[in-house]
Amino acid sequence: MAKKGKSIQAIRGMNDILPEQTPVWQWLEGTVRELLQGYGYREIRMPVLEKTELFKRSIGEVTDIVEKEMYTFEDRNGDSLTLRPEGTAGCVRAGIEHGLLYNQIQRLWYLGPMFRHERPQKGRYRQFHQIGVEAFGMPGPDIDAELILLSARLWRALGLEGVRLELNSLGSPEARAAYRQRLVDYLQAHREQLDEDSLRRLHSNPLRILDSKNPEMQALIEAAPQLAEHLDAASQEHFEQLRARLDMAGIDYRINPRLVRGLDYYSRTVFEWVTDRLGAQGTVCAGGRYDGLVEYLGGRPTPAVGFALGIERLIALLEAQGATPPAPAPHAYLVLVGDQAQPAGQVLAERLRDALPGLRLLVNCGGGSFKGQFKRADRSGAALALILGEDELAAGLLAIKPLRGEGEQCHVTEQEALDRLRSLLDAEQQNLLGAR
Ligand code: HAM
Repeated sequence: MAKKGKSIQAIRGMNDILPEQTPVWQWLEGTVRELLQGYGYREIRMPVLEKTELFKRSIGEVTDIVEKEMYTFEDRNGDSLTLRPEGTAGCVRAGIEHGLLYNQIQRLWYLGPMFRHERPQKGRYRQFHQIGVEAFGMPGPDIDAELILLSARLWRALGLEGVRLELNSLGSPEARAAYRQRLVDYLQAHREQLDEDSLRRLHSNPLRILDSKNPEMQALIEAAPQLAEHLDAASQEHFEQLRARLDMAGIDYRINPRLVRGLDYYSRTVFEWVTDRLGAQGTVCAGGRYDGLVEYLGGRPTPAVGFALGIERLIALLEAQGATPPAPAPHAYLVLVGDQAQPAGQVLAERLRDALPGLRLLVNCGGGSFKGQFKRADRSGAALALILGEDELAAGLLAIKPLRGEGEQCHVTEQEALDRLRSLLDAEQQNLLGAR
């Protein structure tokens, strides 16, 4: 081992998720998993590292992500690799590579860390986590609607409040190209009002200028030609049908003509679920249709649509409204006093676990006095303390003491202890069912 030195800190913008926080993550992930399964989506897991070329081609050379935010490096073979800044590109790459897409319908999802070298602030990190959902092979608005309905159901399942849906259509690539030219002409004519960022984007990515937050440019943007007026007929029809479906299902939304998204692969439908409760980083979930991407990445033409939600932002929002469930406490803590009680107690605990699947039982390890162990039992949040000392061991009994609420300590047989634990588990199950 090298010499002792100063302690090493995590990389800025990359967070440890500590044991107090993991129950919320697991609850959220479990809820999403169950819900997606209910809609027939299957999980796919891709590497976190891909060839840089994949992201350049899919996300677009002149996007913030590719220009400024990717963690790109050369590996030992001299290949340029990038830590994935998002999951869609890798999912499409994997789908093409394994023949999952051509002439098929696929409903896929993934979960995992993404990496962007952004300026860290609340809700914006350099390593963050997304749950992404991607659907392939379905060209119509039915699947766009399914994804939106599914996300709305997820908010209900999580008890999430205060998110609203923003919707737009970017039209076909051809209609967008024609519109792009109109927009460039308009912006050219007002060149003197453009800020530095917009001047840079004028020819590379003019639609993103509409997304500018610079207050001095708002009047110019306000008066710019609107994409909605330049949609092709088929995209218009697609959008109208999607809206009709959302109306029928009672989903509220707002058409936001400025919603253009920060990645280049979108066409037609784009949407974001946003909140005002997280400050500047208010988008918790975003996505849209990307019918051209599969072909662009070397596959056969395949319509596709998807979204990704930011887990950190979702959890921040849930925490802000106090909607996260508490971590489940142990049902019991086994206090073991004496040299023989310790190994005997560990074997007893295994018998209890065999008899009661789902039992959360903490066995005292690391020794300690009776008093010290009782303190640990109390701190663990357990409902019951089970006590095995030399006397109990000799008598073939256990002592049992409720740690929450009323109840005296008493001696019981192993079978009686099992019955007590079973009724605790049953009561918990009933509560869970009641809560649903
Ligand atoms: P995106 O809008 O770049 O889209 O990211 C989706 C979500 O990830 C955002 O709405 C946000 O909640 C979260 N997110 C993004 N960057 C950060 C960050 N630095 N820190 C914390 N959370 C962040 C995509 O990534 C597309 N792949 C979505 C998609 C899937 N479109 C079609 N399929």
